[in-house]
Amino acid sequence: MTSIRLGILAAFACTTLVAWLAQAGPGRSDETVTDPFLGQAEAIDEGELTYRSKCMGCHGKAGARGPNLFATKLTDEQFLETVINGRKNTQMPAFGLRLSPDDVWKVHAFIKSRDSL
Ligand code: HEC
Repeated sequence: MTSIRLGILAAFACTTLVAWLAQAGPGRSDETVTDPFLGQAEAIDEGELTYRSKCMGCHGKAGARGPNLFATKLTDEQFLETVINGRKNTQMPAFGLRLSPDDVWKVHAFIKSRDSL
């Protein structure tokens, strides 16, 4: 009886370990989300329009309320997350209801296509 229980316990421990490794292991880097529009001229043009209408007021030199996005060190994924969710307790608004993830990727593709406006 005890040995059966031990067996079940061991099997359970194994699957848990495998699941944990799959999540935390090297495979994870393959799942990094990156901007699918980088380098695409049409998307970059659309992104520029969105940047000019929705971001520049705060992030451009004249606004100067937010940091210079052309110098951001965020990863693609962090950029997307920041724009969709905003930053709590700062003036950075959440755009999740106004912009789709693709809209945000296009702004990001525009920003990555040059060093300044
Ligand atoms: C009302 C002003 C305002 C508007 C509009 C705005 N931002 Fe921001 N944004 C900020 C501020 C302020 C911060 C700095 C937040 C902090 O202190 O962490 C910020 C931070 C960010 C960051 C993090 C930068 C980094 O390197 O950490 C990103 C990315 C960003 N904004 C993207 C955008 C995009 C894209 C738009 C347009 C769709 C936009 N923001 C519109 C005010 C604004």
